[in-house]
Amino acid sequence: MSFFRPAVDALRPYVPGRQPPPGARVVKLNTNENPYPPSPRALAALAAVDADELRRYPDPSSREFREAAAETLDVDPAWILAGNGSDDVLTMLVRSITGPGRPVVYPAPTYVLYRTLAGIQEAPVVEVPFADDFVLPVAALAEAGGALTFVANPNSPSGTAAQTSTLAGLADSLDGLLVIDEAYVAFAEADALDLVRQRSNVVVLRTLSKSHGLAGLRLGYAVAPPAVLEGLGKVKDSYNVGAVADRVGAAAIRDTGYAQRVAGRIVESRRRLAERLQELGCRVWPSQTNFLLVRPPAGDAARVHRRLEAFGVLVRYFDEPALAETLRVTVGTDEDNAVLLDALQQVL
Ligand SMILES: Cc1ncc(COP(=O)(O)O)c(C=O)c1O
Repeated sequence: MSFFRPAVDALRPYVPGRQPPPGARVVKLNTNENPYPPSPRALAALAAVDADELRRYPDPSSREFREAAAETLDVDPAWILAGNGSDDVLTMLVRSITGPGRPVVYPAPTYVLYRTLAGIQEAPVVEVPFADDFVLPVAALAEAGGALTFVANPNSPSGTAAQTSTLAGLADSLDGLLVIDEAYVAFAEADALDLVRQRSNVVVLRTLSKSHGLAGLRLGYAVAPPAVLEGLGKVKDSYNVGAVADRVGAAAIRDTGYAQRVAGRIVESRRRLAERLQELGCRVWPSQTNFLLVRPPAGDAARVHRRLEAFGVLVRYFDEPALAETLRVTVGTDEDNAVLLDALQQVL
């Protein structure tokens, strides 16, 4: 006997990357965190949080953060909805839009949480396979008829990105909502924010976890027409963003210069790391993110993953057929990357 719904019993739970305790002596390149600290202005805002702000419930609309984000992006605050990480906004989207007979569609492999959330909601899932080059399969995505279509752009774990014009074409061929998950856009050549302004069925998701070094704060947001955000608001937890995240996130997102400098440094490190990995005989897919999809020369990714762990280097291995021969490696500081390369050379 089970206490749970059959759909929950059947669910394969989302398995996050390993989080060793703070202070553990590992080079952590497995969850795409930013290797640099958050903006000094964000840390100053954190230090200024007072007891009263903690005693009281936070603003249910996260007004301080939304106004800061709106200014930074040059959109109206009514077009922004904040969440406890973009995962929270993904949950709101799936809960409010999908269900039995209302499919969730996405290209695969991609962010695994889309599948998990659809499973919880008992929504049919259509996974449209990417080819080896990770070019977006637009026609097949359009044909699948999603109530909700997700495109992580740039995609994880491939690191590749579709052009904005391709996404525009996809949006135009869908009856349902297109969610462009831009978790990694800070490291990319282009973003799709203009599509939200131009079309009524496009949502862009962003997070401060990667670009702003604030994965522990938990803050993400959607940019979408107010009519869409109104629907999401109906299933939102009342106080889904805490007072600390509202305040610190506002300071962080306003410090655009700092975020751009950090992203620039990571993009530069990414280029050097990709070159070195290729010199070691690895295949490396072109990346517009803060990580690289890497195939070790013999395709023995599970073994390399285990052996690197013995060297204290954590990278991500996904136990999925399409990814069996590859590893996802977060771009760290140049020092982190040197440790990885040194360990990898020995493993290979
Ligand atoms: C594509 C994608 N979307 C969303 C998220 C979730 O980010 P957040 O930390 O804002 O919940 C991740 C995190 O790994 C991701 O890779």
